[in-house]
Amino acid sequence: MAGSIDLGGFLSLRQSRPSFPALTNPSSATGTAVSNPAALRFCRKVTPPALLLPALYRAMEPPRCVESTDIQEAENEIPAAGHPARSVPPELVEKMVYDALVWSSLHGLVVGDRRAQSSGSVPGVGLVHAPFALLPMPFPKSYWRQACELAPIFNELVDRVSLDADFLQNSLSRTKKVDGFTSRLLDIHSKMLEIKKTEDIRLGLHRSDYMMDAETNLLLQIEFNTISSSFPGLSSLVSELHRNLLNKYGNDLGLDSKRVPGNTAISRFAEALAKAWNEYNNSSAIVMVVVQSEERNMYDQHWLCAVLKEIHGITSIRKTLSEIDVQGQVLPDGTLIIDGQAVAVIYFRAGYSPNDYPSEAEWSARVLMEKSSAIKCPSISYHLVGTKKIQQELAKPNVLERFLDNEDDIAKVRKCFAGLWSLDDTDAVKSAMEKPDLFVLKPQREGGGNNIYGDTVRETLIKLQKKGTEELAAYILMQRIFPTASLAFLVREGIWHLDNAISELGIYGAYLRNKDKVIMNDQCGYLMRTKVSSSNEGGVAAGFAVLDSIYLT
Ligand SMILES: Nc1ncnc2c1ncn2[C@@H]1O[C@H](COP(=O)(O)OP(=O)(O)O)[C@@H](O)[C@H]1O
Ligand SMILES: [Mg+2]
Repeated sequence: MAGSIDLGGFLSLRQSRPSFPALTNPSSATGTAVSNPAALRFCRKVTPPALLLPALYRAMEPPRCVESTDIQEAENEIPAAGHPARSVPPELVEKMVYDALVWSSLHGLVVGDRRAQSSGSVPGVGLVHAPFALLPMPFPKSYWRQACELAPIFNELVDRVSLDADFLQNSLSRTKKVDGFTSRLLDIHSKMLEIKKTEDIRLGLHRSDYMMDAETNLLLQIEFNTISSSFPGLSSLVSELHRNLLNKYGNDLGLDSKRVPGNTAISRFAEALAKAWNEYNNSSAIVMVVVQSEERNMYDQHWLCAVLKEIHGITSIRKTLSEIDVQGQVLPDGTLIIDGQAVAVIYFRAGYSPNDYPSEAEWSARVLMEKSSAIKCPSISYHLVGTKKIQQELAKPNVLERFLDNEDDIAKVRKCFAGLWSLDDTDAVKSAMEKPDLFVLKPQREGGGNNIYGDTVRETLIKLQKKGTEELAAYILMQRIFPTASLAFLVREGIWHLDNAISELGIYGAYLRNKDKVIMNDQCGYLMRTKVSSSNEGGVAAGFAVLDSIYLT
């Protein structure tokens, strides 16, 4: 999830495929807790107008996720490529890296440089190119289609779950007792129920993240983000960068730029915000982006606001939670006013982590916004649906059926669920203690760097058990997914590095409805992140995770 430049915790994984001895199948060990047994097969195995930049306009071409004549044409012309990184001569790499660095600088594919002091607060100061992969990562077209098709189904699912207040409260009731942050979020949810607050206009800007599990050949969901889904701006640019490089060097590499799908994330997210603004129906109202006071990923956010202004003519402002506490007020009719202006849409790029609420002021700002009539992206209910605990509850047998009617949709969603368990499942906990490498232990946190892997899974479980059963409710257990590693050129701070890497694909989705009318329910482009697959700590400490795009095979 979320806005940090560590690429959403993508650095925290350690290795692509450990060698482990045969073990008992957690799916049989845990009986009914597993709703997608196929996912667990691995367990049996041993192993501008005028002002905007042209690049962004190209990124705004119609969505190409599911259908693309370009891609079909390309397929007829060239055989499906193997991995492009294998045989590129070093001189060519150097040339392409140079061009890519120039392109990134000229086209705003940038982040704040952590070495520069005010790079997280003053725009234009201390910029560095965003870390990127030099070439797009090969990805099978059928899995790409599968991921795209899931987006509108998940959008609908989130909306339906968000309306079931009892499901949210009951599912999170035990977590609430031991997790202060979740507890505060649930309190806001309860408060809104008490005052019978309803949200007629609901906007979700989501991202569903997946990895390809090498053992089962299944595309499995890592998580579903409902708050602060980051990188719509920069991911669109990386796709453009890759197309640009392949247009120039494709012949040398035997690669065709048409196989890199156009990435519409930025334009579609701006469109969704604009449509929501329109539903609010106050032409003088603005969009408010809730931000952290220090944000090195600010250019990703600024891109969205720039498109919102230049394409849709809508003004946005950036405010921290503490500023909103001081400056915001809600009028008797529910209108949220800030700096003397009415707010139509609140877009959260902060507020997903306890660190965003250092004092009561920030919580009071969150409550103020929730009480208002502004469209919240996300509302407190949407936020809660995106928690890891709810992900795990939805994976239990017969739960999807409560929220989705269409059997095909249910089957598609279930197929992408990895094994997910609550820690009151003693069989799952036992399996995780025995084979910790096959699991990830996840607290109810967003933003990267919070998950627990390897031997620490066992140690943490032992510690938690000593503290008492209540403590276990703060975590969920997840089957660890092992994607195939392949070579990639990773470029960070101007320096390239060839390494074995694994990737995670995020598909953006936008959902907007006003009462019974669904105004938008689409997949909206993608984010590919690639990171080194090696397990040694040096690789992780070096932080070699980068933005990427895909090369359809
Ligand atoms: N089940 C899993 N198997 C392998 N890697 C995982 C798994 N779950 C998470 N990860 C890795 O950890 C990162 C962060 O986990 P995620 O669930 O997305 O939490 P966050 O909300 O912090 O982004 C992911 O981007 C992915 O690289
Ligand atoms: Mg994540």
